[in-house]
Amino acid sequence: MAKDVIVALDFDSKEKALAFLDNFNEEIYVKVGMELFYKEGPEIIKEIKKRGHKIFLDLKLHDIPNTVESATKSLMNLDVDMINYHIAGGEEMLSRSTKSAKELNKNIITLGITMLTSTSEEMMHEDILIKDNLNIEDTVLSYAKTGKKSNLSGVVCSALEVPKIKSELGEEFLTVTPGIRLQSLNNDDQKRVVTPIDARKLGSDYIVVGRPITKSETPFESYCEIKKMFLGE
Ligand code: C5P
Repeated sequence: MAKDVIVALDFDSKEKALAFLDNFNEEIYVKVGMELFYKEGPEIIKEIKKRGHKIFLDLKLHDIPNTVESATKSLMNLDVDMINYHIAGGEEMLSRSTKSAKELNKNIITLGITMLTSTSEEMMHEDILIKDNLNIEDTVLSYAKTGKKSNLSGVVCSALEVPKIKSELGEEFLTVTPGIRLQSLNNDDQKRVVTPIDARKLGSDYIVVGRPITKSETPFESYCEIKKMFLGE
């Protein structure tokens, strides 16, 4: 199974994102989120593709099944490599969308968001009204099961949750894990952080890394160091 480092292009303009990519003279995997996509539109995807990079388009789609399926078909025109949905949108939304996505691009990786890491257990019970007897871990696993039933390729989760998800849902169900830090760096606003070496040992398929690379004075060197640690080379 392909393992890789995905660099989070958390920039607010095309100019900044492309200037950052000038540091890389090899093809890499990048994540484009709402901030950059909503500002620059499909054009930014075309520009990044032109440079040969792979793209995880992180828009976290969530609406009625028909709308999300139609949005998925539109996004497939962009020829991205990975897209994602809120599993809370339900099985019909997920299965119709992933089916359409895979019909239009058989190599697309479709991922589900379980619980956002910004959601506390208290919020989960008080605001989202998830039963009091379910903790975050149980809920993440239950959501991941819905994702698998709906034929998603995998989930976005914490590397700490990977062993449980893999043992319950199988090795081939992909796990894409943010919250990665080198021990020597500060943790910014990430709370449950994992090093690239630990992410490898826990079984993550892809790690998503933002600031340890984007804020580095030598982004390419930081990327290579993190990739080497993650792939165990
Ligand atoms: O800078 P940092 O490495 O923390 O960036 C991580 C990236 O992964 C950001 O784009 C962030 O939005 C995203 N992310 C996350 N935690 C999640 C889901 C996505 O940090 N649970």
